[in-house]
Order: sequence, then structure tokens, then C-alpha cells
Amino acid sequence: MKKLIIHGGEYLLGTIHISGAKNSAVALVPASLLSDDEIIIDNIPNITDIDALDEILTYLGATIERIDSRMVIKSKNIENKEIPENISKKLRASYYFMGALLGKYKKVEMYFPGGCAIGKRPIDQHLKAFEALGAKIQIEGNKYRIEAQELIGNDIYLDCASVGATINAMLASVKAIGKTKIHNAAKEPEIVNVATLLNNMGAAIEGAGTSEISIQGVEKLGKSYIEVIPDRIEAGTYMILGALVGNPLTIDNMIPNHVESLISKLKEMGVQYELNQNSITIWHANEISPTHVTTAVYPGFPTDLQQPVTTLLAFSNGISKITETIYENRFQNVEYLNKMGANIKIIDDTLEIKGVPCLYGNTVKATDLRAGACLFLAGLKAHGTTEIENVEYVLRGYENIIQKLSQVGAKIELQEI
Ligand code: EPU
Repeated sequence: MKKLIIHGGEYLLGTIHISGAKNSAVALVPASLLSDDEIIIDNIPNITDIDALDEILTYLGATIERIDSRMVIKSKNIENKEIPENISKKLRASYYFMGALLGKYKKVEMYFPGGCAIGKRPIDQHLKAFEALGAKIQIEGNKYRIEAQELIGNDIYLDCASVGATINAMLASVKAIGKTKIHNAAKEPEIVNVATLLNNMGAAIEGAGTSEISIQGVEKLGKSYIEVIPDRIEAGTYMILGALVGNPLTIDNMIPNHVESLISKLKEMGVQYELNQNSITIWHANEISPTHVTTAVYPGFPTDLQQPVTTLLAFSNGISKITETIYENRFQNVEYLNKMGANIKIIDDTLEIKGVPCLYGNTVKATDLRAGACLFLAGLKAHGTTEIENVEYVLRGYENIIQKLSQVGAKIELQEI
């Protein structure tokens, strides 16, 4: 067990470099097994979710080499065996083995994925996509057996624009017979990154990044190379940090277009920033104007930045509101922010935030990854010392957090308990 100790209240100055996107990398790694040839993935973040995927691929018999942020995967000798519960439940993205193994071997046996407890998070749309392609699904307790005699291209209508279901539908259909169309597909940049890898491998996918994706099945996928796109949620988290304590803080190696919804909210709050091609420089705001934020699928305001932005609005000079539309249980951070002195009420799916002038260090708990982000932001701004327990959640998604924050002047350390 580890905890984060933060001595808050310091202004931070310098540059934070953004790593490869967690939510792209966790799909690119399983996608690689669709080919028997070597797949090279660059800009892989060094986070524990990637270690968990490495463990699953290695368990299946793949050979993986990791040199700095490069991962070289050879899946020729994979054995399509059942993925046990103890490893599938380590992370949410283990569900991409469903699409990838089904796409390659027409059969997969594995357990329900894990991930942060932020809502019910069903996978019915993933299963609906596999069924549309001709697969039969048997569920026994937590175990899924998905099998098809042949995978045959079809129209897949998603009831909600799910990131995971869209990627899984692509993985399962790239080698299917004929043409698949995914309707109401999710449009997140991570989906474009995965489609680019698959196309580099020889797939024929068009329309990724729009709500209608067409996939012409191909027989074989080959050798390929891909670079993971910069993590827009990590960038957004540190941009919020800039608005809290930047003196100024520059966030670089990021794609400003991917965080447009956050930039427009920062503007509404009166935060000063300078935008460049691959970076943004942000000054701490002495006054934060209250605003309303509603989470939505891309290009709307990302649910993954809802908890981090709550920390910023906790300091506004008025009443702000945040409505969470994607997950039913993504407000577990509020109890701890209030323990640090914030004034936030949960009213159904909405937060009513009355701004306060300061927060005070306290002992708090990360209940999930982005709750942890909300709390380390609060700790860095607060007076006094904050101890964040359950920090393993944070290490799942933020690469080199101690080093990145220390470099810009933060007093932060990781302690074993
Ligand atoms: N949903 C269904 N049925 C499904 C799939 C999704 O009802 O079959 C619902 C979910 O319950 C949720 C909504 O649709 O209410 C969105 O779920 P989605 O499938 O888009 O999310 P996901 O694929 O499970 C990914 C990220 C999440 C991120 C969401 C939304 C990964 C591994 N996870 O999850 O990331 O919040 O997309 O952008 O890519 C995080 O990084 O902290 C995180 C939770």
C-alpha cells in the first residue's frame, strides 16, 4: 500500500511533458495480437494498467519487450486459453481481449473486467456488437464464453456511443467476412488512434472519429508501427493545476484540439492562458468565475475531467454546478474535498459548489483514478499537508507523477505504508 504526501500552497513554475494516452494504449496493446507479426508501439505510458495488460499478453504466450516507452509485441505463439478472473479484473481494458481474441480466433473465454467503481458500467453494447457479427454468448456468473463459427460483417447499432464497445466492435470485425458498419460510434481521439494502428496492420477502416465507422474485413493483418497519442486527460489535469497554482505552468506535447471543451471552460472562469501548437501555458487565477459544466461524449466536456475540475470550481467566487451524465457514481471525491474545507452538495446527478477562499490539508482517500487526481490537485493548492491513501488508483493513470510534479516545484512524495 502506498500514500501520497503533499505539502501544499506552493506556486509551480516550469513545464510538464504529457505522456501517451492511457485509454489509447490500453486498447492498442490488446489490438496488437490480431497480427502474428511484430507490432511496435511507441510512447507507451509507464503506468500500472499497462503492466496488467503486459501480464495478460504474456500469460497468453506473447513475447513483449519494453525499452523506455517502446513496446515490441510478438503474438505468433499465443495460445487462445481462458483468461482467469484474477488478471482480467485488474483493469477495465481487459475487455479488449474479448474483441481481439474473438476477431483472431473466433472464440474467447474470459471473466468480467475490473476498473474503477464509478457506476454500473455494463458491457451489453460490446456483446450486442459481437452478436451482430454472428457470435453466440454464454455467461456463467462472471465468466463469458463468446464464440462464432464465422464472423460475418453486419450493421451494428450502438444504443450509446460507448468508447469500449466501438473499439471492441472494430477489433472483432476487422477480419470478418464482408462489410461492417458501426452506427452511433463513439468519436473519441483514442478510437482514431486504434483505427490507425489497425489500418497500418492492413485493415480497411473508414470513418473513425465520426459516428459512422465502416470496416471492410480483410483476411490477414501484418507487421506495424504506431505512436500513442498524447493523453488529453493527463494534459487537462495539469492544465487545471496551472489554473490553481501555475506561476506559470506550461503543459507540452499535447494536442490543444483534444481539450477544447476544457479550454473554453477555463476561459469562462477567467483563467489566463497562452495557446501554442503543441503546448499551453497557464497562469494561476486570483479570481475564478463560477460556471456550469455538463459532461458529455467527445467533443463534449470529458467525464474523466469532471472530478479534477471540481477542485478548481471549489475556489470560484460564487456558485457553480457540475452535471455528470456518463456515470452514476463519480462523486465519491466530494466527501474528501469537503473534508478539506470545500462546500459542495450532491443533488442527484449534479454538484452545487459554493466557492471557498481556501482548502486545508487533511487525510483523504482516492476512491478511483480521477477522484485521486481531484485530491492531488486539491492537496497542491491547499494550506498544510495532505495525505492521500489508496494512491494505487492514481498510479494506474498518471505516469511519473512524483517526478513530473517535483520538477515544477511541488513538494510531493510517495510513501509505502
Ligand atoms: N455503457 C453501457 N453499455 C455498454 C458500454 C457502456 O451502458 O456496453 C455506458 C456506461 O455504463 C457509461 C457510458 O456508457 O455510462 C460510457 O461508457 P464507455 O463504454 O464509453 O466507457 P468505457 O469504454 O468503459 C472509457 C474509458 C473511461 C472513460 C470512458 C468515457 C477506457 C479503458 N476507459 O471507458 O476512462 O471514462 O471511456 O470517455 O478507455 C478513466 O480513464 O478514468 C476512465 C474511466
